[in-house]
Amino acid sequence: MAPIGRADRAEDRARAAALLRQGELVAFPTETVYGLGADATNGAAVAAIFAAKQRPAFNPLIAHLADAGAVGDFALWNDMARALADAFWPGALTLVLPRRPDCAIALIASAGLDSVALRVPSHPDAHALLAAVKRPIAAPSANRSGRISPTTAEHVNQELGDRVALILDGGPCEIGLESTVVGFQSGRPVLLRPGGISKERLQAAVGAVAAGSDSADRPSAPGQLASHYAPGKALRLNAAAAGPGEVLLGFGPDFTEGHNLSPKGDLIEAAARLFAELRLLDREPGAAIAVAPIPDEGLGRAINDRLRRAAAPRPPSSA
Ligand code: TXA
Ligand code: MG
Repeated sequence: MAPIGRADRAEDRARAAALLRQGELVAFPTETVYGLGADATNGAAVAAIFAAKQRPAFNPLIAHLADAGAVGDFALWNDMARALADAFWPGALTLVLPRRPDCAIALIASAGLDSVALRVPSHPDAHALLAAVKRPIAAPSANRSGRISPTTAEHVNQELGDRVALILDGGPCEIGLESTVVGFQSGRPVLLRPGGISKERLQAAVGAVAAGSDSADRPSAPGQLASHYAPGKALRLNAAAAGPGEVLLGFGPDFTEGHNLSPKGDLIEAAARLFAELRLLDREPGAAIAVAPIPDEGLGRAINDRLRRAAAPRPPSSA
């Protein structure tokens, strides 16, 4: 079981903020559900979220901000997004926006996508924590994969008590349902996940909101999530070495040439670097990327899931 602090006590929040800045996981209350938080700019800390949730695949996480003024540091606004933020922030709305090229939020928090999900929560203690950390906090709901989202500190303790450095207890969550996730297509809002703010309320504020064709959590064809980043180069998995015309992405101490996801064979470090390395290798000369075998355990399962998707043949139009 994890140590529990009081979310409304400044000392406990200061301790939580220090732990987050050191790369530790801290669970904290928001008005929707409890979040499993990590410093969003620290790839290894974000990778630890996936390890703790025991999710066999990476899905993109929400980065929480203290106020809307910080959005421009990480993402590109559009007019509709501004109107939605004006109407519903702070609150149970998440906006998916294009990442700025210099976005400091780790790529693994975006699951390698060119977009990033941002939310300014209204819970006063969540706001105070974000203000103390002075960095965006990546946080999915603080439950194990496939379980329901926790709305009390006790739920979090049952789910993840052995995996977090601290739980901030802020009592039961007011809304008890995750935030509504909205993305944009040609500047028009698209509902990606229903949640705490109804589509009717969104539409009353900004006009028509299109229905997403699929839940953001469950795209109909696995691996075909339209926005998923896929390298331009072909991928060859379980490679012992680079062949002619290939660039190598190694793992572990046996791979001393070329790039290496983790020379010491650490799966959390490998997960933290995966998407950035794929992007880097994509820009190097060579027709294909040869990827070393990754152990299929712990976070290795999510890494292998992502690599298999990236290696799968793609229809030419989805490049
Ligand atoms: O209320 C909430 O949203 C809670 C609290 C802690 O803030 N968080 C939460 O996070 O529910 P999570 O990771 O369980 O859900 C994130 C949702 C998923 O449906 C994910 O697919 C979507 O946001 N999402 C995140 N980034 C995305 C992106 N770049 N493109 C499309 N969907 C994205
Ligand atoms: Mg969840």
